[in-house]
Amino acid sequence: MNTWQAAFNRWHTEVYLNTPSVELEPHMHVSHGMTRTCELDLLCKIATGHSYIEIGSGRGFSLLLMKSMGIECFGFDHLSDVLDGLGTSYINCEILKGSQITEEFQERFTALVRGVAGAGAGAAAPPLFVYCDNGHKVEELRYVAPLLSKGDILGTHDWPTEVPEDFSLDGYELITEYDEYIKHYACLQRFWQKK
Ligand SMILES: C[S@@+](CC[C@H](N)C(=O)[O-])C[C@H]1O[C@@H](n2cnc3c(N)ncnc32)[C@H](O)[C@@H]1O
Repeated sequence: MNTWQAAFNRWHTEVYLNTPSVELEPHMHVSHGMTRTCELDLLCKIATGHSYIEIGSGRGFSLLLMKSMGIECFGFDHLSDVLDGLGTSYINCEILKGSQITEEFQERFTALVRGVAGAGAGAAAPPLFVYCDNGHKVEELRYVAPLLSKGDILGTHDWPTEVPEDFSLDGYELITEYDEYIKHYACLQRFWQKK
């Protein structure tokens, strides 16, 4: 059984089958066919050698997949506690109030970034890769950008649908290395690296 199949089997048994039916939106979390698979594949490629933080981690499939590949990962979302049992560092938290980033999220996110990437993590800590997939991605990207360090990566889903096509971040360089892949598989993703 390959890594993806094993992660999917575990996710299906421990999350999907235990999720309250009112919260079930499986299409959002594991499917969408080739595009969805390629988006996850690209996230895993970029996350390799980094610590990964997903803002809006949904049902945690990407976290579980990355964990099974040995990538340290953390996810923020306000879904039920089903995800706690996966041991994937799922942080149950209200990220937004309307379009405003909450104080709770700010406190928990900055503490995590400091612990994973800052003084708390030691000199050999891997760079960070933060991926925004929550409700107000432009606000989330602008909030996270100044908190990262040189070499860290910031990415978003829903580009260029929700995040404008020409969106840029001060102090960041657009990563173009995956453009062909993104175009070929119609992935809705964009990534920047802090200079
Ligand atoms: C597009 S989905 C994330 C999908 C996930 N990244 C994946 O790939 O499977 C957006 C997520 O944002 C979460 N969300 C929306 N508003 C939120 C809020 N105010 N606080 C915390 N999470 C929120 C939802 O629960 C949902 O899981």
